[in-house]
Amino acid sequence: MDDKASPFAHLLGRGAPRAPDLETLEAWGRAVGAALPRPAIITLEGDLGAGKTTLARAICAGIGVENLAAVTSPTFSLVQHYEAPNGPVVHVDLYRLRSEAELEQLGWDELVATSPVLLVEWPDRAAGTLPPDVIALTLTHDVEHPDRRVLRIRAALEPLRS
Ligand SMILES: Nc1ncnc2c1ncn2[C@@H]1O[C@H](COP(=O)(O)OP(=O)(O)OP(=O)(O)O)[C@@H](O)[C@H]1O
Ligand SMILES: [Mg+2]
Repeated sequence: MDDKASPFAHLLGRGAPRAPDLETLEAWGRAVGAALPRPAIITLEGDLGAGKTTLARAICAGIGVENLAAVTSPTFSLVQHYEAPNGPVVHVDLYRLRSEAELEQLGWDELVATSPVLLVEWPDRAAGTLPPDVIALTLTHDVEHPDRRVLRIRAALEPLRS
């Protein structure tokens, strides 16, 4: 990734923290949300409790979602919509997805094709159905530092002109 291409690319490249504590991760997530080009798909991978929803909420805060309390890992629904000034944010948690048919019932292909911003937890449940140009974020517990998470980022960004 060419950091010099844009401030956003820098944020995902050298500007990203490697093993952030909670406060650092949330500040970075807000910055990502504030600078996020549209349309955008962000996938969030990591074990239970790794911080996927925490990061999704911080990204939503940066985007301008007002009702941040609504940004949770829902128990029953797989998809949540949040209002934001520049259009809705769609947040999907596929942990409980049971079948490909269920993905179809969600209108998955249309969500992927038309959401201005799509945040996807447990994207491996829908492997092969996402475009290659997603911003893929992975959080891993840091064994030596329980208050930190290791953050990995994979993104093939279009070079943006400033
Ligand atoms: N450095 C950190 N980064 C992210 N979360 C942290 C960090 N340190 C502590 N935490 C805590 O870890 C928990 C992460 O929970 P969260 O619901 O975001 O995880 P999740 O990956 O979405 O889990 P699930 O797969 O169960 O939905 C929160 O309680 C958060 O406060
Ligand atoms: Mg979650």
